[in-house]
Amino acid sequence: MPSMVDRIEQIEAGGRQAVSAAASAAELEEVRVTWLGRKAELTAILRGIADLEPAERGPVGGAANRTRKALEAQIEERGAELAAAELETGLVEDRIDVTLPGSPARAVGHLHPITRTRRLIEDVMVGLGYRVMEGPEVEHDFYNFTALNHPEDHPARMLQDTFYVDPAGPVEAGDGPRDVLLRTHTSPMQVRAMEAAPPPIFMIVPGKTYRRDSDATHSPMFHQVEGLAVGEGITLADLKGTLLAMLREIFGPDREIRMRPHFFPFTEPSVEFDVSCFRCSGTGTLNDSSRCGLCKGIGWIELGGAGMVDPNVFGFVSDSGYDSDQITGFAFGFGIERIAMLRHGVGDLRLFFDNDVRLLEQFS
Ligand code: DAH
Repeated sequence: MPSMVDRIEQIEAGGRQAVSAAASAAELEEVRVTWLGRKAELTAILRGIADLEPAERGPVGGAANRTRKALEAQIEERGAELAAAELETGLVEDRIDVTLPGSPARAVGHLHPITRTRRLIEDVMVGLGYRVMEGPEVEHDFYNFTALNHPEDHPARMLQDTFYVDPAGPVEAGDGPRDVLLRTHTSPMQVRAMEAAPPPIFMIVPGKTYRRDSDATHSPMFHQVEGLAVGEGITLADLKGTLLAMLREIFGPDREIRMRPHFFPFTEPSVEFDVSCFRCSGTGTLNDSSRCGLCKGIGWIELGGAGMVDPNVFGFVSDSGYDSDQITGFAFGFGIERIAMLRHGVGDLRLFFDNDVRLLEQFS
């Protein structure tokens, strides 16, 4: 039978092995309870020393106490090791890069459908090499009408069609309330842009325009986009290709366009342009052979006006290098609301400006 001291040595060896094998603080605590706890063999031995033969008490008591101290020390050491390792993994796992930008608050709203449609048009035209410009909404009669070749008695100049503004301060001789107005279209920027820089010019002008109109497809304030391309050798074919490229981006790659003769004072020849209907693919008829409601069975959707810049308009900017014998150009203009109504199936233009969230939420 092995002596009590031998048994204590075995306990020490077993205990040391168990302590080294403990892989976490929790496991180490279990090891401690097993080898040094109240029910541990070593504890029982220590408790029983008084009952031993006097000769054995010294060696057994000494060995048992040394072993207990040794295991306690080893447990403490292993505990420190494990704590350091756990801290290290914690630090690695929880690492945050403080140089990253913080998470931004979630946007509560979104852009207005008119703004989104405007930006879409701008993106397409910038892709074609056009600059985006802006112009004044309160405009001179000269830019809005005169320099755009509108005759003195053109109906668009009449009070029932246009908002005139009383200029602030004393009215000079010759001036009058009818010299300043809310621009009725974005076309005045054609003249301003040409005044400001020689050809070539490739620009679009999105912005607010104003007319004394109010019904389901007209509001006193609405948005247009003007386009102007001036340089050497620009033709009506370039206009058609540009409109086609733009409208295919907006309404789909299968769209076609057509131009119909029309009249505008500042273009010659002038056209109105239509895009083939994207709901019935230009057939005027839906799959169930009913009439297409979007294009009213015509297959084409009217969008805007365009034409070749009238030489008379170049005459107003000849000082800036525009000589109608050397250069030609095309211009076009259309309403942004109309594009947005078509894209989103909105039947009444005034809904865009009622600011009813039940409508606006549908565009998130
Ligand atoms: N300014 C015209 C309007 O508001 C639209 C227009 C027609 C613009 C022909 C143009 C153009 O640039 O060439 O009705």
